Amino acid sequence: MTGRVAGKVAFITGAARGQGRSHAIRLASEGADIIAVDICRQVDSVPYAMATPEDLTETVRQVEALDRRIVATQADVRDYAALSGAVDAGVAELGRLDIVSANAGIFSFGTLDEIAEVSWQDMIDTNLTGVWHAAKAAIPHLKAGGRGGSIILTSSSLGLEGMPNVGHYVAAKHAVVGLMRTLALELAPFSIRVNSLHPTTVNTDMIQNAATYELFAGDLPAAERTQAVVAERFQAINALPVPWVEPVDISNALLWLASDEARYVTGVTLPVDAGELLR
Ligand SMILES: NC(=O)c1ccc[n+]([C@@H]2O[C@H](COP(=O)([O-])OP(=O)(O)OC[C@H]3O[C@@H](n4cnc5c(N)ncnc54)[C@H](O)[C@@H]3O)[C@@H](O)[C@H]2O)c1
Repeated sequence: MTGRVAGKVAFITGAARGQGRSHAIRLASEGADIIAVDICRQVDSVPYAMATPEDLTETVRQVEALDRRIVATQADVRDYAALSGAVDAGVAELGRLDIVSANAGIFSFGTLDEIAEVSWQDMIDTNLTGVWHAAKAAIPHLKAGGRGGSIILTSSSLGLEGMPNVGHYVAAKHAVVGLMRTLALELAPFSIRVNSLHPTTVNTDMIQNAATYELFAGDLPAAERTQAVVAERFQAINALPVPWVEPVDISNALLWLASDEARYVTGVTLPVDAGELLR
């Protein structure tokens, strides 16, 4: 088998759709087998439709079409017992663990003086505690393998800068950087590298929905919040002339961090942000 991660096994949270599915397909196309987890149901404080069981089935289909193996489980990253059970079962079936993508996340809105307690708590539980849970569940397997490993935490450009109306998301994504830096130090003696990714807007269901359009074009009547109008608003955030990047652009950075090409890269906050953070 050839490929930049040939023979390795990757554990990916939030793998039913969007960036998580793209990561599964990209890593599989370079020879990895996949342990996929997604909640596949709605969280009430999230103002757009989340993934479904059918979405996770489609990820399985696309990985298997690449002739790679995949063990997919519906599990909530907030539930440590369920998450670690899914990882344990995946490793038992696929034989090893090398790569971790802590990618599952949610988005919701509100200024910090008004945001509902439940929105804050769901955000911290998912986008911060869920990321720690993914690492915690995987570390024993990475250490047991004795071959090192690569853990990639998905933060955001909003893990490195503030933004009004999403303070709970900004706080969780900044905290992921602290988690990453500490994990990188704790795991370096085991040759396990830990880095974070910081995407600008990515073309997924998390942003292509009426609630997010209202956040970015709330000054306009709903009927005028077209994708073209919203694209202009998003483009103004980036330095490069694009409104958003595609999931595969994040997957390509993740693949590099996961591969031996990045064997001495650890503790890095890697933007894939079309120059957003230059502004
Ligand atoms: N889309 C963007 O503009 C953007 C920008 C920067 C960072 N991000 C981050 O990228 C990551 C992936 O998001 P995406 O753009 O693919 O959005 P998405 O909504 O398409 O995918 C997120 C996935 O995570 C799953 N998920 C959510 N809560 C979960 C939980 N508690 N347990 C298990 N699975 C859960 C969802 O069901 C969904 O399949 C997120 O961490 C997000 O915060 C997104």
